[in-house]
Parts: sequence; structure tokens; C-alpha cells
Amino acid sequence: MEIFLDTANLEEISLYGAFIDGITTNPTIMSKYAHNEHYSLIRKICEMVRGPVSVEVNSEDFEGMTQEGKKFAAISNKICVKLPCTFDGFMASKELSSRGIPTNLTLCFSPTQALIAAKCGATYVSPFVGRLEDAGQDGITLLEEIAEIYQANEYDTKILAASIRNVNHVIKAATIGVGAITLSSSIMQQCLEHPLTQKGMEIFALSWENRK
Ligand code: E4P
Repeated sequence: MEIFLDTANLEEISLYGAFIDGITTNPTIMSKYAHNEHYSLIRKICEMVRGPVSVEVNSEDFEGMTQEGKKFAAISNKICVKLPCTFDGFMASKELSSRGIPTNLTLCFSPTQALIAAKCGATYVSPFVGRLEDAGQDGITLLEEIAEIYQANEYDTKILAASIRNVNHVIKAATIGVGAITLSSSIMQQCLEHPLTQKGMEIFALSWENRK
């Protein structure tokens, strides 16, 4: 399972760099760090990681999305153009993927959106587990249904579990066998820690201090 960090913060990318396969961003994340340097920030991020960097278009129409996508793709071959699961987003995925540009279909909230994403050549589809649960629905069931559809139809599109709110989501996604997951730095930190590890270290340190 690929693990991505959901951030455009260079310090976080550097801190967790050893554990991640790439980066995902979205306009909200970018708005916090890019200011007037959107393209140079994207370039810096691409230089820091070995794998895909998902960058989302801000346009809402097919023409604008494909133009933005091509500009992003010219920055680095690590770019994966993030497009919304809308009519224009699906069409733009078809266009960009036919030109060899990887795409990530985002804001996916239903199995049928994931099905169309696969038909449109998406490299990744990003179901938003947490936001679906905020709306009172079961995000993990969505992952299971998409996984079943992709397996039954032998689609190559990878499921990228997104909007992850807790460690249990990470465990469930990994158990289902999604192709990828994206984590905020806070969830990444929670994945590394356990209170009993810390307690155990304190006990060992005390034993060592009091050795005879
Ligand atoms: C995924 O690619 C998105 O950037 C992200 O996971 C959204 O998460 P949120 O619902 O916590 O904003």
C-alpha cells in the first residue's frame, strides 16, 4: 500500500519523508502554503519525494482543467493531476490520461463515481472516508464496494483512501487492501506511536539507571 502525506508543508514532508511514497494536496492545503508561489512550491515538493505528487486543478470546466493539468505535468513527471469527480473532471481525466499524464479523481463519494473514474483512465480514485462519515454514511463500506468493483472488473485504477480521520480508518483501509492512502501529518504521527511503547521505554530506562 502506498502511503502519501496530505500536505504542502515542506517541514512535514522532510520529517516524514522516510515513510512516504508521495504527496497529495488540494486547493485548501495549497492556499495555506503557496501564496504567490504555487508553481515553485509544487516544484520543490516534487524534488523532495520519490513518488507521485497529486496537485489539484482550480478550474471547473474541461478546457481549464486540461490546460492546468498540462501545465502541472510540465513541472515534473511525478505530477498526478487531481480532478474532481464531475462530468468535466471525468472528461479531463480521459483527455490527460490518453496523453500519458496520470490523474487522481478526487471528491469521490460513490461506487459509481469510482467506476466512471476507472473508465476514464484514472491512475487513482480518492474516496473521502471522513467527509462521508461526517455526512452520516459509512466511508469504509464505500472503500469495500469500490475494491469489489475494481477486482471484479480487473481495473488498474488504484483506490487512494482519503479524508482519513483516525488510525482505525488506516487499519481498515489496509485490511481491505486499498492501493494507497493519504494521511495528514497528525494521523501519520499517531500511526508511529503507542502509549505502551513510551511507557516501556521509561521502564527500561529506569532499570538501566538503577543497574547494580
Ligand atoms: C485527499 O486527497 C484530500 O486532500 C484530503 O484527504 C481531504 O481530507 P479532509 O476531508 O480532511 O479535508
